[in-house]
Amino acid sequence: MSEPWGDEPLFGPFLAIQRQFPDIPLLSYYDADFFAYSREAAWPQEWDVPALARLAARVAPHTVVDVGCSDGRILWHLRRHGIGSRHIGLDASASARKSFEERFAGETGVSFRHVDVTAPEETPAEADLAVMGSVTVNSFRTREQLAGLLGFLHHMLRSGGHAAFLVYQDHVADLFRALGRAMDAVPFTDDSGRRRLIWRGIDFRLEHDHDLRQNYFIQYDDRFPGVLGLVRERVWTTSEVVAEATARGFELVAKDLAVVDDGGAEGWPCDALLLRATHRPAHPEPRT
Ligand SMILES: C[S@@+](CC[C@H](N)C(=O)[O-])C[C@H]1O[C@@H](n2cnc3c(N)ncnc32)[C@H](O)[C@@H]1O
Repeated sequence: MSEPWGDEPLFGPFLAIQRQFPDIPLLSYYDADFFAYSREAAWPQEWDVPALARLAARVAPHTVVDVGCSDGRILWHLRRHGIGSRHIGLDASASARKSFEERFAGETGVSFRHVDVTAPEETPAEADLAVMGSVTVNSFRTREQLAGLLGFLHHMLRSGGHAAFLVYQDHVADLFRALGRAMDAVPFTDDSGRRRLIWRGIDFRLEHDHDLRQNYFIQYDDRFPGVLGLVRERVWTTSEVVAEATARGFELVAKDLAVVDDGGAEGWPCDALLLRATHRPAHPEPRT
């Protein structure tokens, strides 16, 4: 990824662990150590699929690109809905490739590219439709990163092509306050088949530019004390994203609804946006 962790990535007991063990690895939650856990926790989710499939069906795409695809969950569902004939998954996580290729083993017309979309070396395809599952837009946590994402999407889409993704409705940012420093520990089975506990914490600071930090700790005996993990996001809202997208050459053509059903945000509504690429953006982001 092009962006370092930023200031104050850790909080509470996770910060205390790092202070006590300054050499403990601080990894992306999308790295291998956390993949076995996220396979159990996140991959079965489907709450976002119906809205994305409805929007995708409206534009009858040929080439569909899933941006931040992880294991390809969304592409897998779109293919089962008969949407698109060529499917490409993009992700900056090396672990994503392995699980994507496992999921689609033996299938044709589907491929994975390892790319950081905020600093791509090349545009991976000319796409009719770009999709993003879950609330992946929140991974692009600075205004520069959001602009970079939208510039990338615009560049990749053929003229008149579409992007479909979810963003929290405006009032939801305030609801995140309730998640201040909640913590728990849950068991999971790691890649070698061993049962482990993963400690999870979440913290949201509305007044700190909607900063959402999710911290993780897995204890290992053989790599004592273990590893810390981090997801750092910004909770974007519909008004913010639509304004930025409009400024970057997109128009909003449809909105659908998807309601989160896991991970502490259960019941919170997202707008599923369908954006159409119109003219070239007035100020394309430089590729850095
Ligand atoms: C919240 S997860 C969602 C995964 C998947 N879209 C889904 O709905 O199941 C966000 C994904 O975006 C990827 N990602 C974040 N920033 C990225 C970037 N700059 N370029 C490419 N992928 C990125 C992460 O590696 C991660 O797999």
